[in-house]
Amino acid sequence: MEHAKHIIRAVLLIVIGLLVFVVGRHFAIPESFGMYGSYRFDSVAEFTSDAPVHGAPGACAACHDEEAETLSGGKHSTVSCEVCHGPLGAHVRDNDWFAEMPVRRSHALCALCHERLAARPKEFPQVVLSDHVADGGAEMSESVCSECHHAHNPIE
Ligand code: HEC
Ligand code: HEC
Ligand code: HEC
Ligand code: HEC
Repeated sequence: MEHAKHIIRAVLLIVIGLLVFVVGRHFAIPESFGMYGSYRFDSVAEFTSDAPVHGAPGACAACHDEEAETLSGGKHSTVSCEVCHGPLGAHVRDNDWFAEMPVRRSHALCALCHERLAARPKEFPQVVLSDHVADGGAEMSESVCSECHHAHNPIE
């Protein structure tokens, strides 16, 4: 018996370790985990109840039909409202206006797509901003592009 002491200790340690694991696991794992697979089923309901951030195409037209019509008739017809302004969810909640939508009047917005870059396809319209403004005889300023182009219909 004297010599079996260390074996009993080892077995006891293993049993205690197993107990801690089983009890700990029970408390650490969320309730709906494993219900339908190796994930937390409650998370499905949580994600689907989040309000959508982006609108479907045409979501802005429901309230801004004039802007939508101008846009669709011009060169920017393929550019989404949300790219230039912001996501629908930052402006409309429960089908109602709740916060201002950003209006970015800086040439930095246009530069995102039209600044001349060697990596852009050649046929895509692009300009060296400062040269283009000078060629037009205008003074460079933050909102200079809008002096000659309207963002919703840039070449009328
Ligand atoms: C290419 C970028 C671009 C796109 C695409 C675009 N906008 Fe704009 N929008 C602007 C800019 C820039 C202004 C400010 C124009 C100015 O003052 O000269 C503006 C102005 C506006 C304004 C007026 C705000 C004010 O106080 O002057 C509204 C409303 C608006 N946009 C809604 C829309 C809607 C709706 C769409 C889609 C149907 C859209 N925009 C698509 C860039 C864009
Ligand atoms: C449920 C209606 C509704 C929808 C949908 C909607 N708006 Fe608006 N929006 C408004 C109202 C109301 C105003 C404030 C009054 C005004 O200026 O006409 C406004 C104002 C704006 C303005 C001017 C700046 C401001 O916030 O006052 C911009 C830009 C704008 N909206 C862009 C958009 C874009 C882009 C979308 C789509 C992603 C959109 N809106 C979708 C109702 C809406
Ligand atoms: C998200 C990208 C994007 C932004 C931002 C953007 N544009 Fe455009 N722009 C386009 C696309 C796409 C076209 C159509 C190109 C085509 O027809 O091949 C276009 C066309 C144009 C054209 C017509 C070029 C031509 O000769 O046909 C002009 C001018 C123009 N944009 C000016 C502007 C100005 C000014 C701004 C800033 C207010 C702006 N764009 C912001 C994507 C953008
Ligand atoms: C003084 C007036 C004026 C100003 C300011 C101006 N543009 Fe233009 N832009 C024009 C005219 C006119 C054309 C069409 C003739 C041409 O291709 O030069 C044009 C054409 C363009 C084109 C099409 C070029 C192509 O190769 O098809 C783009 C892109 C453009 N502008 C972007 C901008 C941006 C971005 C700004 C702001 C930094 C801006 N423009 C400021 C007058 C102007």
